[in-house]
Amino acid sequence: MSKNTNEQLELFEFDSIETIDKIKVDKSEWGTFKDSLRAPVHSWFTYPAGFSFKAVEHTIEESGLKVGIDTIYDPFMGSGTTNIVARVKGINSIGVEAHPFVFPITQSKFYWEIDYNEVKIILDLIEQKLKETTRPEKLLEFLNQAFPELILKCFLPETLFDLLIIRNTINEIDFREDLKNFFRTGLICVLRDVSIAATGWPYIAPNKVKITSKSKNGFDTYKKRIIKMTGDIVSIKNSSYRGETTHQLFFGDSRDTSEFIANESADHIFTSPPYLNNFDYADRTRLEMYFMGIANNWTDISNQVRKKLMTSATTQISRNDEKYTFDEDFKNECSEVYEFLNDAVNKLKELRLTKGGKKSYDLMTIGYFNDMYKIIKDNFRILKPNSKALYILGDSAPYGVHIPTDVLIGKIGVAIGFKDFKLQILRERGGKWKNNPQRHSVMLQESVVILQK
Ligand SMILES: C[S@@+](CC[C@H](N)C(=O)[O-])C[C@H]1O[C@@H](n2cnc3c(N)ncnc32)[C@H](O)[C@@H]1O
Repeated sequence: MSKNTNEQLELFEFDSIETIDKIKVDKSEWGTFKDSLRAPVHSWFTYPAGFSFKAVEHTIEESGLKVGIDTIYDPFMGSGTTNIVARVKGINSIGVEAHPFVFPITQSKFYWEIDYNEVKIILDLIEQKLKETTRPEKLLEFLNQAFPELILKCFLPETLFDLLIIRNTINEIDFREDLKNFFRTGLICVLRDVSIAATGWPYIAPNKVKITSKSKNGFDTYKKRIIKMTGDIVSIKNSSYRGETTHQLFFGDSRDTSEFIANESADHIFTSPPYLNNFDYADRTRLEMYFMGIANNWTDISNQVRKKLMTSATTQISRNDEKYTFDEDFKNECSEVYEFLNDAVNKLKELRLTKGGKKSYDLMTIGYFNDMYKIIKDNFRILKPNSKALYILGDSAPYGVHIPTDVLIGKIGVAIGFKDFKLQILRERGGKWKNNPQRHSVMLQESVVILQK
């Protein structure tokens, strides 16, 4: 058992922790996207926040969900891992995602009625359009008008021009929206393959040139990608349950779904909330949103994405915003957790004044738990009695102040009505920064919090 866990035990006199040693299945990569990166359909869009499709397969089996009858719910659907596996396995599903750019990508993974002939017609149409279009003489000036600087730095001008023609042709063609969305997803997913800059996660490094991409032709790479995606659909369809299932994917906010998800409509919840202070989900899609012409700068991305998501990163916070005080309902209903957090927030408030970056970890922590409280309450409402909700998540230690998110979420669950909670610790995290003097030395972990209704 890790040092952290012992501290948590003391803190809350809590004795229901299963360590990885006691678990027969290796779950250490459950919270990562590694398996999904190599799997048909799951692999299309590299969502660093995504989790392993094998984890979903396991939970469906272990919880004994009934094929063709039962329903699984994911309140943080992301790239749709839970819902796709559910469809393959013959389980109905509901998913909610608030990121406006990721949502249509996930929707396109559910377009299983794909027809090879239609795909070929559209690919031919795009190729024809590229042949007919002559590049402007002053190509750089032209591209300068069309894109923000980041995009200009990430692509060879000729490649970028071809990608632009592909983008515009998809938007202009007179075809069904679901098919156009499939083609758009293909284009979004190919951008980092043909970029000449280092576009890996977490940061885009426009000044670091990737030689391997210099010889890649935009359209050829795109065409291969679309054909591969079509093949993926055929293969996943062939390996799937043959009967009818329903999959309700909502673009919405899982803090309150009462308008569109009925009480007691799910037999199981399997999800992974944003981790406190881990990713800025908006930043992950910056390159893609700039290229698609739906954002041009940080403010656009903040307005369109950061403001719509639950609080989990300091980039979402403005210190003038009055909403960052603990909710009264949360304070009353979860007083033990509130008291612990209030202490931690006060420490963070003082610490920030001693640091150069003056990060708003204090307000971020308040916002995070206000939001998670609402979401767990909403999840409780949606879940049928005697069912379970599983949350894969990591703890956090901003400025070295340890916030045991997993235990706190478990405690919140019990305070709002769940019968009990268990923790399964999947792996330790944070070791790779251990020699960085700028960073705290608290070892972190990734766990599954299991709430029993
Ligand atoms: C850890 S990721 C989940 C990824 C998912 N398991 C997958 O495999 O792709 C958390 C997701 O929650 C989404 N999110 C954040 N706030 C939300 C909210 N209020 N309602 C719904 N989704 C939200 C983020 O955009 C992100 O996609």
